[in-house]
Amino acid sequence: MTTDDREDNTAGMRIGVLGLGRIGSNHATVVRQHPDVESLVLADAIPARAHEAAQRLGCESVDAVEEVFTSGVDAVVIATATDAHADLITAGVRAGLPTFCEKPVALDITQSRRVLTEVEAAGVPVQIGFQRRFDHGYRTAKQALADGTIGDLHRVHLVTADQEPPHPDYLPRSGGMYRDCHIHDFDILRWVTGREVVDVTARGANRGAAFFRESDDVDNTAALLTLDDGTLVTLQGSRYNGGGHDVRMELAGTKATYAVGLDERTPLVSAEDGATLPAGDPWPNFWVRFTPAYLAEVNAFIEVAKGTTPSPCTVDEALAALCIAEAADLSMREGRRVEVAEVSK
Ligand SMILES: NC(=O)c1ccc[n+]([C@@H]2O[C@H](COP(=O)([O-])OP(=O)(O)OC[C@H]3O[C@@H](n4cnc5c(N)ncnc54)[C@H](O)[C@@H]3O)[C@@H](O)[C@H]2O)c1
Repeated sequence: MTTDDREDNTAGMRIGVLGLGRIGSNHATVVRQHPDVESLVLADAIPARAHEAAQRLGCESVDAVEEVFTSGVDAVVIATATDAHADLITAGVRAGLPTFCEKPVALDITQSRRVLTEVEAAGVPVQIGFQRRFDHGYRTAKQALADGTIGDLHRVHLVTADQEPPHPDYLPRSGGMYRDCHIHDFDILRWVTGREVVDVTARGANRGAAFFRESDDVDNTAALLTLDDGTLVTLQGSRYNGGGHDVRMELAGTKATYAVGLDERTPLVSAEDGATLPAGDPWPNFWVRFTPAYLAEVNAFIEVAKGTTPSPCTVDEALAALCIAEAADLSMREGRRVEVAEVSK
């Protein structure tokens, strides 16, 4: 499909959604409500999930995932378990279909590079699900850095902490905490600062249920990263943040410190007398915290599918974030500082 062909898809679109789990069922609901989308066709490796979602949304579902690609869809949204992403993106672009896929592109760099080659050969746009790029706070911080309000950037602090862990079956197919969860931090760090990560020193700990250790994964993380201009970055993460869902980024410069994710619902309790902020109900999970960003990302994808705009989160950018995640994972496992160039060679 050429860009010119896609420009004809201005209304009445038919979208396939693959994977109807935690995030896929939310994406399907958002896509269903888009004014330019006329019909949806859903599929899941567990067909009952697709049928149930189809009933709820008043749309079609099919038993076999491959059927979606030949069911007359204009574009596909992939929200399956991560280990299925590479093959499904490949199937999507080979069928000439603009493709949205949740992060990460694949579980390793070799597979991601293979996907990138397929995408480039097909000439079909692919958007990867880094919704933080559509969040108001991150956009404001990026602008404040770009226009000099923050001054020279000296330090960055990143936090990604879930209140509740994912279900045990999720872990073996997720790639581990750095690839699955902190890949969001690595992508947004590159996007907001416009800089590359040079090296990572990462740690991990098992403080929660045994299924993390049994899946060769960790449930708490901390890391130190260096950017290519010498800026120091600290990172923390947890699958068991009792206070709530906590996603933040602090950018400290010579003129100001900007905090993304510091609002009434930040799950922090001030230990200071008289301090009332944050005063609201803590964010409970990723979907509630980022609903406007998820909506904006789907709206952006519909425009990508129509051919009116290029992909705002490309496969090569997702690959760059995965390289940092690989370096972090290796650093944690080998107990040493790892240069990103070592894994991305
Ligand atoms: N962007 C975000 O904030 C965010 C948040 C959560 C999850 N995710 C990503 O979304 C993806 C799904 O995560 P989830 O939490 O919804 O997981 P989940 O386990 O709740 O759902 C995954 C679904 O995919 C289905 N599936 C697995 N393999 C399949 C295949 N080959 N074909 C069709 N369906 C298949 C499963 O049956 C299941 O219904 C993961 O890649 C994850 O990294 C992104």
